[in-house]
Amino acid sequence: MYKLLRNILFLFDPEQVHYFSMNFMRFFCKIPFANNWLSKQYAADIIQLEKKVFGLTFKNPVGLGAGFDKNAKYLSELEALGFGFIEIGTVTPLPQNGNNKPRLFRLPKDKALINRMGFNNDGVVLVAKRLREWRETASGEKRVASSEKQIASSSKRVASRKLIIGGNIGKNKSTPNDEAWKDYETCFRGLFDHVDYFVVNVSSPNTPGLRELQQKDSLKKILLNLQNINEEYKDGCKPILLKISPDLEREAIKDIIELCTEINLEGLVVSNTTISRENLQTPNNELQKTGDGGLSGKPLINKSNDLVKFIHGLNNGLIIIGSGGIFTGDDAIEKINSGCTLLQVWTGFIYEGPAIIKKICRTLINNH
Ligand SMILES: Cc1cc2nc3c(=O)[nH]c(=O)nc-3n(C[C@H](O)[C@H](O)[C@H](O)COP(=O)(O)O)c2cc1C
Repeated sequence: MYKLLRNILFLFDPEQVHYFSMNFMRFFCKIPFANNWLSKQYAADIIQLEKKVFGLTFKNPVGLGAGFDKNAKYLSELEALGFGFIEIGTVTPLPQNGNNKPRLFRLPKDKALINRMGFNNDGVVLVAKRLREWRETASGEKRVASSEKQIASSSKRVASRKLIIGGNIGKNKSTPNDEAWKDYETCFRGLFDHVDYFVVNVSSPNTPGLRELQQKDSLKKILLNLQNINEEYKDGCKPILLKISPDLEREAIKDIIELCTEINLEGLVVSNTTISRENLQTPNNELQKTGDGGLSGKPLINKSNDLVKFIHGLNNGLIIIGSGGIFTGDDAIEKINSGCTLLQVWTGFIYEGPAIIKKICRTLINNH
């Protein structure tokens, strides 16, 4: 069924299809009982898959990667599809449009995508407001949090919902790298009351110079500052993870791991998209027409799994969220065997459709 729908959707521009599909789902979910129907079809609430990781209870380990719901607009609809967690963002302090369109491309021969979105997002203030409203409506206590006190008390409910929300944070394009730490701080403070964990994104290939922030000194400044702020919050610290590029040299990875353990980071998201175009079935002339950007999907799985194995082999105790090329239950098992505790899908969701979560969960339960 989804294959047929996919063939039709793939006739149109990928970015437009993305928003069309999500807006359609939102419209559909407004029909009475539609949310329940969707959950019955797709969600696999299997108690055995519940997992406690960095103090949070994930109803299942299959999450949605950053960049899908950048602005936290479709959380209830995505929750109905059965995701165990959703990472919103990348969010930057100020809203920004991102790169010129077209900036998202399909490579069907490779079951892949190339994107150069460039952190298009509504900015931290609006995204935080949306998250607060979502929590209020979702808990059935729609109310206006007008005073500081009310905002603080609503924040205490962050973990009371079943769906775990990660906040993926970045810097604005116009912010020079030596001031980037301030952007991460702004986003951290802005989202603190509304997300369950944070991911520091320094690995997107689509913001010029961003990946240079993976160098040890720049990274230390950003992460140490966030950990210090974390300790200021009396209601408890939020887990902070770092999302890394699969294109880093192993020596650079070792430096990063050393730093992460030194400042007690909870873990890593491994990995972001790659700039490599190796071993693709898509002809070169088509790739050239597509241009720069991060490659995701099937061609990324071995590269990101190798990186997971390498990091896991260093025995550092960091939790790894596996991202890159998960399409099937077997892919998920391979990631877990490589050293991942939690998983994220993105490109697989586009190619396999909403049943992907239930299928993966069923495979995981059979291998339990
Ligand atoms: C269109 C698109 C936009 C993305 N935007 C972000 C983003 O804003 N921040 C981020 O950390 N990762 C972003 N990613 C990377 C994904 O979260 C994920 O790490 C990557 O696609 C690899 O997983 P996959 O092979 O399952 O797609 C984006 C990916 C795609 C395809």
